[in-house]
Amino acid sequence: MADISFEIKNHIKSYKNWPNEGDIFRDLTDIYRHSEITQKCVNRLYERYINSNLTHIAVLEARAFILGSMLAARLNLPLILIRKPHKMAGELLHSQNDSHTRALQMHKNACNEQDNVLIFDDLIAAGKSTMGAINLINQTGANIFEVACLVCLPDLKGVQNIGTLNVPVFNLCAYE
Ligand code: ADE
Repeated sequence: MADISFEIKNHIKSYKNWPNEGDIFRDLTDIYRHSEITQKCVNRLYERYINSNLTHIAVLEARAFILGSMLAARLNLPLILIRKPHKMAGELLHSQNDSHTRALQMHKNACNEQDNVLIFDDLIAAGKSTMGAINLINQTGANIFEVACLVCLPDLKGVQNIGTLNVPVFNLCAYE
């Protein structure tokens, strides 16, 4: 399958020392401004998952809602919205909240132990949000097929932390 990481990187603008001194912020906005690269990303993910017996795509607020919902529509699968606290009404699950895991929520009945869920985020850095999402899906008893992201930053140890939970991470592009 074609490697599109170079093309993706051509659409990522890097800001040194933002938001904090020493940080490099990888801004994905330009990807979403160009339908051709956006479609390529969705196509690549579609090819990977079309034969995977997924039942749901879980997407993390907010940027992952964009590609995640395009992918879910292509695969004809329901979306599970994973959101920050105080955004959703109804019966909710709450992720644990500690130094490795961000407090997030999802609807309790969004999936169950019969389901096979892909978690999608746009960028994995320290991985706290992804760890929160994994914690939530695990509470439902559903299988997590894997985590997929557009971009990962392995230096920030998120992928390593997610690995401790035995959940594989697939990326379309990485900044080593
Ligand atoms: N979120 C957390 N770290 C980030 C980074 N370096 N670039 C873009 N988004 C981020």
